[in-house]
Amino acid sequence: MTKDYRQVDKAHVWHPLFQHQRLEETTLAVFESAHGTTVVDTEGREYLDAYAALWNVNVGYGRQEIADAVYEQIQKLPYYPHSQINVPATLLAEQLADCLPGDLNHVYFCNSGSEANETAIKIARQYGRQTYPGQNRYKIISRYRGYHGFTYGAMSATGQARRRKAFEPLVPGFPHAHPPYCYRCPLGLEPASCGIACADEIERIIQGEGPETVIAVIAEPIIGGGGVIDPPDEYLPKLRQICDDYGLLLILDEVITGFGRTGKMFACEHWDVQPDLITLAKGLTSGYLPLGACVASTQVFNTFLGNTDENREFAQVCTYGGHPVACAAGIANLKILQEERLSENAEKVGTHLLSKLETLNTLPIVGDVRGKGLMLAVEFIEPDGTHLTTAKTNLISAQLREKGIIVGKIGHAVEEPENIIYIAPPLILTEAEADRIFETLRQVLVEQEF
Ligand SMILES: Cc1ncc(COP(=O)(O)O)c(C=O)c1O
Repeated sequence: MTKDYRQVDKAHVWHPLFQHQRLEETTLAVFESAHGTTVVDTEGREYLDAYAALWNVNVGYGRQEIADAVYEQIQKLPYYPHSQINVPATLLAEQLADCLPGDLNHVYFCNSGSEANETAIKIARQYGRQTYPGQNRYKIISRYRGYHGFTYGAMSATGQARRRKAFEPLVPGFPHAHPPYCYRCPLGLEPASCGIACADEIERIIQGEGPETVIAVIAEPIIGGGGVIDPPDEYLPKLRQICDDYGLLLILDEVITGFGRTGKMFACEHWDVQPDLITLAKGLTSGYLPLGACVASTQVFNTFLGNTDENREFAQVCTYGGHPVACAAGIANLKILQEERLSENAEKVGTHLLSKLETLNTLPIVGDVRGKGLMLAVEFIEPDGTHLTTAKTNLISAQLREKGIIVGKIGHAVEEPENIIYIAPPLILTEAEADRIFETLRQVLVEQEF
């Protein structure tokens, strides 16, 4: 007899972001297997996973090459601390340095996106002390709606009140600027004439705080969980310029946008902007095993060199950082991404899907359709242009699931109603599957009278 997983789960598992009192009325799916873009539940129902689990299963499910690489590595050397060298971590670091832009050459491995950002924050603060002796440069400017993780530093950089307020007081030194959210400009301006005022705001914050107290700006090139906010083309180069003008590091959080998701290997390539630190996770192993990384430019890395008595080394250790098995998965994953040119597929199929989704703009319920590659969002509105209610947006995503399509939905990110769904499928998506996602969404929107 099969176990009643839901009963056991209810008794013992504490799920993230979930109100357990609602468990009776909510049926969480029990997923048991998956292949390609499809996940299968214990009742044998198949779904097209148009959210790639959590934006991360970039190469799709059921990749034998990754399974084999993991199996072989576990047999050979399951673990050894990264205070010494292990072969998969070394090879993966070399391959990452080869495919990252510019001189992002020095890879610090950890286990997750939160840890990657935590690491970047700590590297930035230490860099500040080593580069500007006598000054106290520790502040890192981030943006409202941005998400950088659940640990204290990364959460303090996060600009989503609902992910922060129960845990305050947070780490000091993280002033926030408004995001480049053109559809509902937080500064009340129009994209054609704003002069990218939201980037100027970052400069004003630097001046207001005192440049001698600021060390970095951290940003997702395209804000992910905060609404898929794809900035105007001038925005990221302007951030780079501001950082250069004030001697600050630019930290780009490519935890979602990395590894082909936006149609380039890394999103910063869309604007030809090289960060000083880049943070990676999710698509680094396509979720097959946990792995994160913070990669530093040679210039940043070199400031950590010195005699032993100078204490310039980076004093952070992570038991599972550089885990040989996770790195073996990362190497196999990167090989698939490159050999199958999945960023090009994301660009091609993503452009096709975006142009289809844009036709939904004629429906009164659709306020905005946006994104790049296979990182797309649809924002819903009430007839008067205000946010569609959370309940109605939940209904849209529930009906999509009923019809066999799983999408993501903005959650715990903003104070307003949660009116945005996310389409971020595995990068192996075909045009036929893209058409199915579009057609199902169109049907749900026209059939349902909201
Ligand atoms: C942009 C971004 N940064 C960091 C993180 C944190 O990554 P993790 O959940 O692996 O700690 C996430 C997670 O969704 C993310 O979207």
